[in-house]
Amino acid sequence: MAKFFISTPIYYTNDVAHIGHAYTTIAADVLARYHRQQGKQVLFSTGTDENSLKVVKSAEVVKKEPQGFVDEMAVRWRQTWDQLEISYDRFVRTTEPDHKAATYALFEKINASGDLYKGMYEGLYCEGCEEFKKDSDLEEGLCPLHKTTPKSVKEENYFFKLSKYQQPLLKHIREHDEFVQPESRRHEVMAFVERGLDDISVTREGQQWGIPYPFDEKHVIYVWAEALINYLTVTGYPDNGYEKWWPADVHMIGKDILKFHAVIWPAMLLSAGLPLPKTVFGHGFWNADGHKMSKSLGNVINPLKVVQAYGTDAFRYLLLRDTPFGEDGDWQTKRVDDVYNSDLADDLGNLIQRTITMINKYQDGAIGEIPNHSHDIKPFKTAMENFRFDKALEEIWVLIRGLNQYIEEEKPWIIAKDDPAHLKEVLAYLAGNILQVGQLLQPFMPHVAEEIDNLFKDGLVRQKTVILFPKRESKTSE
Ligand code: MSP
Repeated sequence: MAKFFISTPIYYTNDVAHIGHAYTTIAADVLARYHRQQGKQVLFSTGTDENSLKVVKSAEVVKKEPQGFVDEMAVRWRQTWDQLEISYDRFVRTTEPDHKAATYALFEKINASGDLYKGMYEGLYCEGCEEFKKDSDLEEGLCPLHKTTPKSVKEENYFFKLSKYQQPLLKHIREHDEFVQPESRRHEVMAFVERGLDDISVTREGQQWGIPYPFDEKHVIYVWAEALINYLTVTGYPDNGYEKWWPADVHMIGKDILKFHAVIWPAMLLSAGLPLPKTVFGHGFWNADGHKMSKSLGNVINPLKVVQAYGTDAFRYLLLRDTPFGEDGDWQTKRVDDVYNSDLADDLGNLIQRTITMINKYQDGAIGEIPNHSHDIKPFKTAMENFRFDKALEEIWVLIRGLNQYIEEEKPWIIAKDDPAHLKEVLAYLAGNILQVGQLLQPFMPHVAEEIDNLFKDGLVRQKTVILFPKRESKTSE
């Protein structure tokens, strides 16, 4: 049986999920569900990145021990994903022993390749990004993302010979179009690698929190250098059997962490003699009503609040419907309400409601023989294989709108007067196609898919009404 391994990034436990985290995770979930539907054996991993310095600080603020703090936060992240119907197979935490084991095994390999050496690091460090910065990375001396002044550090560190992998990486990127996607990000990574790679520090000195560096316990491993290894941890590495899953098929990430996934991680794998992930997909960022989301602006969108207002399935739809995956999106409440009303309440909700009403009214709920559906799903599949969720959903809506139009043209309420045999065909055709809509929608909207299946599958409609998407008053705000 073919396998499909897809991962999300592992999320920092100093904070709770916002809409951007939900976006990465829902997109990965849609693909995991789609590939399961295609009959593949799927490993879908997500989890929490717990060895960050930010954790120590956040725990201090609430007067907790770091471990107790991350234990609680990991539960909250899991609860959020449960509410969003995320069908992950493995939730990995970087404070778990098996992650430490995988990290040590990989570092052994990298060390055996002669790619680790001791040196002095002098420069800047942004704790928000957990990243060493160059002057050229800053805007007016500040980290452009966190608007903070990076700390000046001078410490003894162990370095990884990233520079050694410049040519092998370039070769790999050039030979594998699908390695970094979308295309614009592939060019970005290629240009970055072409400019030359500096060796990177992979340890921090004198820190208490983190995974000790196996070759010198005065150091802990730099959080990114071990967080990336979570993708091997979830396969069971280094134990036998990890090869069943590795290499990953897709690392789903946001564009902000592209360099880590498309440059540093592959170089570490090359050093360890392991195959590279097939695809790293860097999606775009969400803004809110035209503004960057930030705590200080107070405009961060909480996915759980959106779910309360619209429902889980609708939220998943609204995130993926409009913006081509890879580009930046803008969450505008008015626009979201309009799309909800027109696509979900009107097009889909009404199609189902009208159909079951007619089947009840004219045939006492009996559908009769449901024909095999005939809609061509090739364009849908192509869109899914190309990460174009917007196009895949448009394909389904072409079908839905077509069915609504079919009702208008066939006018079952007229046929009902003198041609019951034809009426039966018309209603069975509608039911068959709605069942297909349900199947296609399953990866995106698991509840709706189940409802549709329950409604029509036995050839008998038992419910008189079903309101999947209560209409919203436009212009309301959350
Ligand atoms: N812990 C690291 C990842 C380590 S993976 C080995 C990290 N964590 S994070 O909690 O900051 O979340 C990262 C994910 O959230 C990324 O995929 C990132 O792109 C996504 N997003 C964060 N803000 C976002 C938006 N405003 N919009 C879309 N996605 C965004 O980085």
